Amino acid sequence: MSAQAPAAPLARVRGLVKAHGEPPGRTEVLRGIDLELAAGSFVCVMGPSGSGKSTLLHLISGLDEPSAGTIELDGQDLAELSLGARTLLRRRAVGYVFQFFNLLPNLTVRENVELPLAIAGARAPETDAAVPRLLERFGIAARAHAFPHQLSGGEMQRTSIARALAGAQPLLLCDEPTGNLAQQAGLEVMRALREVCDNDGRTVLLVTHNPRDATFADEVRFLVDGRIADTVLQKPLKIEHLHEALARLAI
Ligand SMILES: Nc1ncnc2c1ncn2[C@@H]1O[C@H](COP(=O)(O)OP(=O)(O)OP(=O)(O)O)[C@@H](O)[C@H]1O
Ligand SMILES: [Mg+2]
Repeated sequence: MSAQAPAAPLARVRGLVKAHGEPPGRTEVLRGIDLELAAGSFVCVMGPSGSGKSTLLHLISGLDEPSAGTIELDGQDLAELSLGARTLLRRRAVGYVFQFFNLLPNLTVRENVELPLAIAGARAPETDAAVPRLLERFGIAARAHAFPHQLSGGEMQRTSIARALAGAQPLLLCDEPTGNLAQQAGLEVMRALREVCDNDGRTVLLVTHNPRDATFADEVRFLVDGRIADTVLQKPLKIEHLHEALARLAI
């Protein structure tokens, strides 16, 4: 019998509520979310458009503040941190693939991808071989010196993924990371996410509408009516089981 205690979760969300507006126009997007991300796990959350998936990722990263509930990231309660301390924790702990990319407009593709390295200061971007490898892998090496406004949606998305993978943050929050990509490019992205989880022990929280992408996860949860549904699918994940669950939950 193993006496080893399970590893502390990298992120833990308890009773998370997020509302917008004031009564009587107050609407609750998230109505009591409990979620734990074990270190090194790959969790996928699926839910209808507008169900609060991006909101949840924003909250976990500390970019937005909850109306109620707690979020612990790497053992720290975000509510107990100053804005500055939260920003530092996010930079250190979170790689983020935003749904709408959030590339810095005045930096080139290469500079955007190098940004996490430049900020961390631990590795010199100009000599780090990881960046050219990522640009190559995601088919944007030829666009390395282009600026975001010169890119297609798919190129922006691939740049955003390369940037999230370039750093060494233990948690990757991925919001529809293949939404703008053709089939094959999307598969390459999902393989890369699975690899960094398996090989580097990074923790992935993926939000997607795409059942194929969800099959790469260890576990799939569903966000419905502001709550995480009781249905949990675990690997080995079969695409037909995902379709069944999505139909049952009317997603
Ligand atoms: N600042 C805001 N003020 C009011 N409502 C907001 C605000 N931000 C988000 N919402 C609402 O919160 C709900 C959840 O938005 P969110 O972007 O998290 O959904 P989502 O699940 O990511 O959707 P999608 O799949 O379309 O990306 C939506 O109904 C949205 O209109
Ligand atoms: Mg969204």
